[in-house]
Formats: sequence, C-alpha cells, structure tokens
Amino acid sequence: EKAGYKHFMLKEIYEQPRAIIDTIRGKYSLEEGEIYFGEVDYETIKDIEKITIVACGTSWHAGLVGKFYIENFAKIPVEVDIASEFRYRNPIATNKTLLIPISQSGETADTIAALRMSKKMGAKVVSICNVVGSTIARESDGVIYTHAGPEIGVASTKAFTTQLASLFLFALFLGQKKGVLEKSEIKSILNDLIQLPEKIEEVLKHDKQIEDIAKEFVRYKNFLYLGRHYNYPIALEGALKLKEISYIHAEGYPAGEMKHGPIALIDKEMPVFVLGTKSRVYDKILANVEEVKARDGIVISTVTKGDKDIISKSDYSFILPVTLEELTPFLNSIIIQLFAYHASNLLGLDVDQPRNLAKSVTVE
Ligand code: F6R
Repeated sequence: EKAGYKHFMLKEIYEQPRAIIDTIRGKYSLEEGEIYFGEVDYETIKDIEKITIVACGTSWHAGLVGKFYIENFAKIPVEVDIASEFRYRNPIATNKTLLIPISQSGETADTIAALRMSKKMGAKVVSICNVVGSTIARESDGVIYTHAGPEIGVASTKAFTTQLASLFLFALFLGQKKGVLEKSEIKSILNDLIQLPEKIEEVLKHDKQIEDIAKEFVRYKNFLYLGRHYNYPIALEGALKLKEISYIHAEGYPAGEMKHGPIALIDKEMPVFVLGTKSRVYDKILANVEEVKARDGIVISTVTKGDKDIISKSDYSFILPVTLEELTPFLNSIIIQLFAYHASNLLGLDVDQPRNLAKSVTVE
C-alpha cells in the first residue's frame, strides 16, 4: 500500500499535486472568474466582522498562512490561535465571529474544545477537515473537506498543503462575496492556481538534490529556519518537520526577528535554512542572508528561478519555478518536507512513526 515508496511519508509528499487538484475541483470557474463553496451557507456568515482560526501543530501553521490569504483577498480581520491556548484564556467570540477550526483528523481534543466554546458564544463554525464524519466535521455548521486522502505518516504533509489550498480558495470566495476582488482579478489568480500542481511536480524533481544536501547536514545538531510574510509559517513548519522525524533541534523564525535574538546563535555549526523565493520582502531576506554569512553561518536557501542575489550568497540553493507570491508557500513546503524526510531516513529513524508522537492527539 506504499505504492513502491519506502515510506508513507514519501508517498504522501508525492501525492500532493493530485491531492491539491482533488481539493480545489468543482470550486471555481476559470471562464466566469468565480469561486463556489456549496458546503458553506454564505447567508449565515455574510455579517461576520472577524474570523478566528484555531488549530494545533502543522494545522496551526496552515492557519497562519490562511490569515494572510483572508486579510489580503477579503479584507476581513483574522486572528489565529493555538487551540490549547484559546481554550484556557477568555477568548472573545460573538454571533459576528466566524470560527475556522483546521484539523486533518477532526479529532484533536483541544481543537474540538475550542470549537464547542465558540459555538456556545454564538460563533458560526466552518471547519477545514480531512476526515468525513469526524467530530469536528459533525459539530460544524459547514465543512470544507480537504481531499488529501488518508494520511498515514505521522508527520503531516499532504494534509497541510491541501489545507493551504482550501484556505486560499476560501479567501478568494470571501473576497468575491464581499466585492473586494473583481472577476478579472479572480481569473488571473485562478490561472496561477491551476498551474500549481505542475509546478509542484517540478519541485519534486529536486528530490535527489535534496537527499544529497541532507547527507551533508545530518551531522548538525541545530538548525534555524527563516521565512517572512507568507513563508514565515513555512519556516515554522520546516523546523517542526525536522524536529519531529529527524530529532534534530530546529527553530523557525520570522526572518525579521533574527536580529532580536536568534542571531546570537549563528556560527558555522548552525545551518540556516532560508525561504528566499521572490516576494515583496525579498530584499529584507537578502539582508538576513548577508548577516548570516558575515557571521560564518551556512545558508541553504530556496530561490525563484532567475534569482541572482540570494543564490550567489548561499552555500546551497534549491531553484523553484516562478509563481504568484501567495502560492510560494506550497513550493517551499515541498522542499522542507523532503529535507526532513531525507534527514530522518539517512539517520535510519522510523520516518512514519517517530518516537513519542501519535497521529491524532485525542487527549489534552
Ligand atoms: C505535525 C503534525 C501535528 C498535527 C497536529 C494537529 O506533522 O502532524 O502537529 O498537525 O497534531 O492535528 P490535526 O490536524 O489532526 O488536528
């Protein structure tokens, strides 16, 4: 059932182009420049003033990207909370709040608790979930299903990128309904979205290069992952993936925070993984790379095809296809997933069943 792959995680990484196609299928018309979400009764959420996203772990990272999508495309304020934090503070929700729980399994105890609390306060609930009939799906007013298919590897991969795809389209949907986006804008964005699966296929071709680079780096004990804006959550995700399956300590940081602390750690024993794809913050990231190099740090970066500056200053780079800035998190995700996968595999660890971890955390 691993379809010839050595591990479920690797199979699931390779399934991402298909999983994204299945997740977005039927939700848009390129000709009309329209987005459809039949599973969400827009009338019941049209007056919302705030969106709160709650989730744990990797799903929380998807939520962080979702905030940028929704605020950018629909101009609705979004807060993103870790479900285990949300449930023990005094969160504010009203009948003008839309709660979006994000959960692969639909059974994460803290996320369920956050959902129930918000419902009691009158919030509408539209969840993003991968398991049909799960607790979160059953208790929500509407469910946007990610069509990742069963995810067996404990480390979440295809569930994550399908969550991103759902959030991306849902943000466009809200932007369309609220009149923030013109049809022509939606058409143009959709044009980029439908090319994404092919671009992911292209990124998957880096597999061997990633393995070779991982070989040089598995002896290191600490890593720093840096990203900014749309790719700040991907830096967090890169560090989480490396920690959970290779047991190498890694920290993810929004790159602008480097000078507020983590820069003190940089030396030749702590490689820095920089998500340096083209974006509005490219120059800022380039400056971070220069700061790392000035301190004898080692830089592994992702860059966009045609890049000149970050690539020339990095020790190793992965060249990614050109895409919409909003879609770069998908391409960067593939690289950090494969890097963590190869590190774990090269260290001879149990990639699919890392120690101390469970696939779904159904108790606090
Ligand atoms: C990391 C991972 C976990 C889950 C988290 C939430 O690779 O898989 O961090 O993302 O436990 O699980 P779900 O999405 O099922 O609520």
